[in-house]
Amino acid sequence: MGEPVATTPPIKICASLACADWLHLERDLRALEEAGVDYVHMDVMDGTFVPNFALSPDAMRHVRRATSLPMDVHLMVERPERYLETFVEAGAEILIVHQEATVHLQRTLARIRDLGARPGVALNPATSLHTLEYVLEDLDLLLIMTVNPGFTGQKLVPSTLRKIADARRMFAARGLATDIQVDGNVSFENAARMAAAGASYLVGGTSSLFAPGLTIAGGARRLREVAEGARR
Ligand code: DX5
Ligand code: ZN
Repeated sequence: MGEPVATTPPIKICASLACADWLHLERDLRALEEAGVDYVHMDVMDGTFVPNFALSPDAMRHVRRATSLPMDVHLMVERPERYLETFVEAGAEILIVHQEATVHLQRTLARIRDLGARPGVALNPATSLHTLEYVLEDLDLLLIMTVNPGFTGQKLVPSTLRKIADARRMFAARGLATDIQVDGNVSFENAARMAAAGASYLVGGTSSLFAPGLTIAGGARRLREVAEGARR
């Protein structure tokens, strides 16, 4: 992996909180802290942009009271520009909007930065990287959806692996070491391929960190090992 490695930032593990055990959330948060996980990934779904509902600013406030782990917040929400202040105030360190959900993307990203959070953009599997050509300097993180968003437990869309490699090349050509996050079916096997292609932020859900039969500590250790191993 010679060329991408030089410009690829270090691996970070983001725990998909929607996949945690909500009847024992505090226990899971402690386990995530002890496992050295880097972020708590909050999936927010509005029932319109995606055909499902998930977390909210209130859920974020509860999580923030219970842990000092930083939150990266993935808004699967139509016209997210309406709620940026709310999510930054609720504790988002990284705030990610979908390219497909906001018309004035550049303005939305600049506003997130003004509010003091790190701006991120998510792309559905069908959306081209080219849509970001003129906003590359405005984002700190690109979230490449590796499944169609909305549900846990789905299978990887294979073409998204090529998209990760293309994105890493696109950033490198501009001299940017922007973080690339992957979300959806980040299994141990897929994580290795994603990291080798240039992904740096791995969202662990039911496919790894919260896989049945594994502990959070064991899942986090293995996820980091396979991803860092794939870089060498
Ligand atoms: C995408 C999902 C993912 C979640 C799924 O809409 O909500 O954010 O991390 O993890 P897996 O695919 O491992 O169940
Ligand atoms: Zn997500």
